[in-house]
Amino acid sequence: MNARLWIGTSWKMHKTIAEAEAYVGELTASPLLDRVEAFIVPPFTALAAVHRALGDAPVHLGAQTMHWQDEGAQTGEISPLMLRDCGVGIVELGHSERRASHGETDATVNAKVASALRHGLRPLICVGDQGDDLDAGASIETVLRQVKLAIKGIDTASLGRALIAYEPVWAIGEAGRPAEPAHVAEVHGALRAMLGQRGLAALPLLYGGSVDRANAGALTALANVDGLFVGRAAWTARGFEEVIEAA
Ligand code: G3P
Repeated sequence: MNARLWIGTSWKMHKTIAEAEAYVGELTASPLLDRVEAFIVPPFTALAAVHRALGDAPVHLGAQTMHWQDEGAQTGEISPLMLRDCGVGIVELGHSERRASHGETDATVNAKVASALRHGLRPLICVGDQGDDLDAGASIETVLRQVKLAIKGIDTASLGRALIAYEPVWAIGEAGRPAEPAHVAEVHGALRAMLGQRGLAALPLLYGGSVDRANAGALTALANVDGLFVGRAAWTARGFEEVIEAA
């Protein structure tokens, strides 16, 4: 693919509004932003402030999840309309932490993907195999199944706005170990082939899970890796810049 790499970071449950603004102030001074499709995914509480702080900087704003309904009696939830109201353009759906501890399932991810697209948001669909899948040689099967269920019943034309992130659960966070490029190549190749059969070969495929400046270059050199989704290594603006530089 010749398109620019998508490189983004989720801050997960980190950063106050003041910390978020300071990060954006530093990041937007970087000349590297013009090289990539950069995105940042702050916590909900900082979205509006980050949107203001970004101004017209070339950085997409993302949210970490949402409900699929426009409004309703859903205490504690955030709707797609509310995200749009905060200037959000991308919404992360199905992250393994949401699947493991906050009730996101293949069915709710599917409802959320459809809703996001209806509201002009770009869904960032996160999928990933468990350590057991890896050991059993079932990584590809698991990931393909999650993607198929996430996009089930949604028309190809509207799915053109989606992004997919392969994030092996065993590679995420402090306890994770980064995936070998050969493994990423295999899974991304299988994803590309399956999406191609559905007229979706152009969907950007991002890799996430212990990405840092040391491994970013080897990962983005792979044929079917169109971007990186970074956690810890990009929780400082300088760290994010270093990953962009290495990619
Ligand atoms: O969403 C990105 C994330 O799950 C990866 O986190 O800290 O392993 O880069 P990390």
